[in-house]
Amino acid sequence: MYKPTLDYAQQLDKEDKLAHLRAQFHIPKDKDGNDWLYFTGNSLGLQPKQTQQYIQQELDDWAKYGVEGHFEARNPWMPYHEFLTNSMAKIVGAKPLEVVVMNTLTTNLHLLMVSFYQPTKTKYKIVIESDAFPSDRYAVQSQLKFHGLDAENGLIEWKPREGEELLRIEDLEKIVDEQGDEIALLLIGGVNYYTGQYLDIKRIAEIGHAKNCMVGIDLAHGAGNISPELHDSGVDFAAWCTYKYLNSGPGSLAGLFVHEKHAHNKELPRFAGWWNHNKETRFNMRQPFDVMPGAEGWQLSNPPILSMAAIRASLDMFEEVGMEALRAKSEKLTGYFEYLINQIDTDRIKIITPSNPKERGCQLSIQVKNTDKSLHKKLTENNIITDWREPDVIRCAPVPMYNSFEDVYRMVETLKTLL
Ligand SMILES: Cc1ncc(COP(=O)(O)O)c(C=O)c1O
Repeated sequence: MYKPTLDYAQQLDKEDKLAHLRAQFHIPKDKDGNDWLYFTGNSLGLQPKQTQQYIQQELDDWAKYGVEGHFEARNPWMPYHEFLTNSMAKIVGAKPLEVVVMNTLTTNLHLLMVSFYQPTKTKYKIVIESDAFPSDRYAVQSQLKFHGLDAENGLIEWKPREGEELLRIEDLEKIVDEQGDEIALLLIGGVNYYTGQYLDIKRIAEIGHAKNCMVGIDLAHGAGNISPELHDSGVDFAAWCTYKYLNSGPGSLAGLFVHEKHAHNKELPRFAGWWNHNKETRFNMRQPFDVMPGAEGWQLSNPPILSMAAIRASLDMFEEVGMEALRAKSEKLTGYFEYLINQIDTDRIKIITPSNPKERGCQLSIQVKNTDKSLHKKLTENNIITDWREPDVIRCAPVPMYNSFEDVYRMVETLKTLL
């Protein structure tokens, strides 16, 4: 299998058919010009070199055409969001009708809950993971309050068992079996931000739907990392950001998925603006609201083209490589990382991310006993960019688009010395 040597890591890089992609990214460097070992693509992905050119084109067309750019730009701005749809749909395994890029992640979750969280007097509770990302927790709590409900009583947490870190699907099953008549919505992180656990979202959808609960997935840590096959999973809705594995820049726009089964339901409650009104009559003004079918029917505003240009630059790279090749490299790269960590002769380290590649993306969450944030600081001083979560977890994401096997090898060598 794997070997714990630099030669071997370099050999893997030589054999890697995606190794050339690294040169298509700006890799941050230290003051002596050495590349950082960047392991925080799960927080902010690196910048593709072609992003600048894609944004520049829109700036040039804006300079040249002003408002006429909506129709005259080389990529007309009026339908610009449509240029992103096919590639984005492929990444998450959806039909184009089911996907749109708009707003930001938490905003999209709220807009989706306007439609898919319809509490009644008896069926009003929301299930989240106990380690849900804070923004998701705040979002569902505020939805409960918005509907006049008690945020504490209305929230059910799916927790790991005592002494464990990972979630078990049978525990969710039990919650929904026992309390399903009171549950209106399951809102679950497809890949948990803390543990890196990739949950079986198809199974989650089946469990929820068996008790008539709506099922939504936050794919912030999944999009561009794993292949969630959203359409086949049957989940009702999903949302994700594009600044992590989708390399589209800080605070860039988010993706939204609404399953085809809801695409033509005009009766769903939703907020409206001119951008989810029928394209054919949008500019006739003073028309009664006529909602568009599919995910586009959740848009409100005309979108920021400069941010979309950055997303387009990145999606074009995904289009060229394909998720299948990326996943194949990712499993090997993260597998090598895991192997090297497990070679460290200490009982201070424990990887809390599942070891089954089907139950994780590229991130490994590494728990280091008897340490504090100074370890993270020392890694940073050694040009190794990771993410620290209190009290003792380092999150590292070797990203198949730009991380190398040598990056992983050097990271673990340094960690070993620091320990
Ligand atoms: C799982 C998850 N949900 C929600 C958010 C919040 O995203 P935004 O600030 O784009 O709304 C993040 C941000 O990192 C996240 O990781």
